Amino acid sequence: MTKDFENTVINAVNNYPTPFYIYDEKGIRDVARRIKAAFNWNEGYRNYFAVKALPNPKILEILLSEGMGLDCSSLTELMLAEKVGAKGELVMFSSNNTPGSDFKKARDLEALINLDDITHLDFLEKEAGLPELLCFRYNPSNVIQGNSIIGKPKEAKFGMTKQQILDCVGLAKEKGVKKFGLHTMVISNSLDINVALKIVEALLELASAIHNSHSVELEFINLGGGVGIPYKDDESAFDIEGYSEGVKELVEKKLTYMPSIYTECGRYITGPHGYLVAKVRHIKRTYKTFIGLDASMHNLMRPGMYGAYHRITVLGKDNSTSTELYDVTGSLCENNDKFAVNRKLPKANIGDIVVIHDTGAHGHTMGFNYNGMLRSAELLLHTDNTLELIRRAETPDDYFATLLK
Ligand SMILES: Cc1ncc(COP(=O)(O)O)c(C=O)c1O
Repeated sequence: MTKDFENTVINAVNNYPTPFYIYDEKGIRDVARRIKAAFNWNEGYRNYFAVKALPNPKILEILLSEGMGLDCSSLTELMLAEKVGAKGELVMFSSNNTPGSDFKKARDLEALINLDDITHLDFLEKEAGLPELLCFRYNPSNVIQGNSIIGKPKEAKFGMTKQQILDCVGLAKEKGVKKFGLHTMVISNSLDINVALKIVEALLELASAIHNSHSVELEFINLGGGVGIPYKDDESAFDIEGYSEGVKELVEKKLTYMPSIYTECGRYITGPHGYLVAKVRHIKRTYKTFIGLDASMHNLMRPGMYGAYHRITVLGKDNSTSTELYDVTGSLCENNDKFAVNRKLPKANIGDIVVIHDTGAHGHTMGFNYNGMLRSAELLLHTDNTLELIRRAETPDDYFATLLK
């Protein structure tokens, strides 16, 4: 975090109650431009930002203005896309176990529809009618091992087998579908371009099989998201330019035509440009020392759910002077409500401001209300250095709003 951003956080803490999320517009725009530039060899390239990563209209508007589309997975995410004026080919609908109502909304918005299962072809036809263009989600089985976030592809609930996709294309053609796309999403938070390129190779082999068996040239190939960010100090950033170059080489080698290349990155775009800011509420010493924050796992589920690592700093204290070993906790009645376990940090005091880094994706959005906890506010630092509240904190009234008398 730069000194300037640190000052922004101090200013924010003076004006808004903790905990809150704060996002950096400049950082988000810079990475949006970088990924676009990396794929500039492909005329139709577009990243469909995975709305689930940071579903705030203000952020989605920024990304749309950078030429991105939106990847939605549910009715309400489609409604969010509609709210910010995205429709047609700017919206990709990648869902699973999908209700008919969601397909209807996707059709209303003329979104690109990505089917997760062969049986969804008839289901979509019956519920909402078939569009002219359909995309299918491929599960390339044991091409890679997977990880704790997404699991092994072969055991994952997502996508179809190679044969099912070949059958789907044939069936859809018979039903009058004219254009096709292909999609996969089997990596998550991967920093290794070789793993990512293995998936691309498998996708392109399937694209080539589709071409051979059905004479179909795909309109686009969506490589999915899952591009990682270095959450830890000793990790290296994903080489997006090297990845793009590798994709280009593979497309030229495996296909006789050039489809548009799409990606669906969420974390890579906003992850490093969001911070969860909280205050030290209590310090408890038993067999270990616990820093109790005014944020809990319901504000950021990743550490509790996946054992995910997030850098933590104490404002105004240098981590290189870390002398203490802490568990950094919240207030939930769950022992995995810990942002960090056995973390070396500078000596903390009650009232200190603690910043949890790289929480701009899959952070606030995974929030929940267990123990009657309330979701926090979200703030955005604009490029002109103004600070905007882009989501208020929940109040007890919000918590009670869904209860009947
Ligand atoms: C279908 C799909 N696309 C894209 C993403 C975005 O992943 P990431 O934010 O890791 O890029 C996800 C994440 O769960 C997903 O399920």
